[in-house]
Amino acid sequence: TEPLRLGIAGLGTVGMGVIKIIRRQADLLEARTGRPVVISAVSARDASKDRGLSLSSYAWETDPVALAKRDDVDVFVELMGGHEGAAKQATEAALATGKDVVTANKALLAIHGQSLAEQAEAAGQVIRFEAAVAGGIPVIKSLTEGLAGNEITRVMGVMNGTCNFILTQMQATGQGYNALFEECAKLGYLEADPNLDVGGIDAGHKLALLAAIAFGTKPDFENVQLEGIQRITLEDINQAADMGFRIKLLGVAQRSPRGLEQRMSPCLVPASSPIGQLEGGTNMVVIEGDAVEQIVLRGPGAGEGPTASAVLGDICDLARGLRIATFGQPANSLHTIPAAQTGMP
Ligand code: NDP
Ligand code: HSE
Repeated sequence: TEPLRLGIAGLGTVGMGVIKIIRRQADLLEARTGRPVVISAVSARDASKDRGLSLSSYAWETDPVALAKRDDVDVFVELMGGHEGAAKQATEAALATGKDVVTANKALLAIHGQSLAEQAEAAGQVIRFEAAVAGGIPVIKSLTEGLAGNEITRVMGVMNGTCNFILTQMQATGQGYNALFEECAKLGYLEADPNLDVGGIDAGHKLALLAAIAFGTKPDFENVQLEGIQRITLEDINQAADMGFRIKLLGVAQRSPRGLEQRMSPCLVPASSPIGQLEGGTNMVVIEGDAVEQIVLRGPGAGEGPTASAVLGDICDLARGLRIATFGQPANSLHTIPAAQTGMP
């Protein structure tokens, strides 16, 4: 059988996690998909950096666009990050040269997802991005496959591990922001620009993607009403705790008579509720549909292993020939309500 040949651009936390799984589980992946999953070539900025593993058996490209265009690559795996520059150019080059794309890049997709999906559709290719939303939790697969028979009425949850870690640890340990920030860096949670995390922007990107999938709309990040956690103090957290509440960066996207409302902001939730009890880098996504009523998905939302796990899920689907596009389908009639008019509690 023909192998599925990967080109991996980005050899940081997630990229190296993906390579480790492919090396460790080669037999399992072949048994599950019916064909070998192999790496043809890799790319990062610095060829001399020690990444803890020898990569000499793969071809090296310093330019990810060159990697994306290689003839020995079937699937371009974009794990660099950033919504402009290399990630966008290389993704477009991959689609233009007949490759499917797997990415963990929520910023790229929240901002350019619709146009990339349209390019993919025109080229007969697909873009898969399970790892972009809630890390290791297979929430996109749940929405597109397991819950396909439902009209979704609401998706909500905690979708940024960094913010959840900082908020829970501030309360548990009384430590300040900076020490906790350092710990997130060690755990591999942080975006290259950590303001995306604490500003709620990263979680807003994820909510916009989830809403687009759940409600069949175009991703509309511009209209996510957004507030980060930078202004939350230890005093706020302790006062909330005294009243039996926790502060969580909570996202909600819901169908209302006026259209689709999207909001990501710090909220008070009862300490005894499942979301109130969510600790560390854990994420939780609650999905409500007309038939299923409510399901709750919980798991690690960031870090090397969990994120690589989601990337491998997409790669395995492609190896099996499951080339289903996730969005880029004709949008339905549900309009997104402008952020300024989102009056959700
Ligand atoms: P890192 O910063 O750890 O790694 C980024 C990698 O991309 C590095 O190897 C870097 O090269 C390479 N890179 C960056 N820019 C370029 C460029 N212009 N050309 C070639 N290579 C480049 O990021 P992460 O692994 O943490 O994240 C990767 C993606 O996954 C991002 O989109 C992120 O949002 C997403 N993600 C991350 C999660 C996590 O828990 N970390 C969870 C979910 C999604 P070099 O090493 O040489 O500097
Ligand atoms: N920076 C992100 C987080 C990584 O902390 O959740 C996972 O998307």
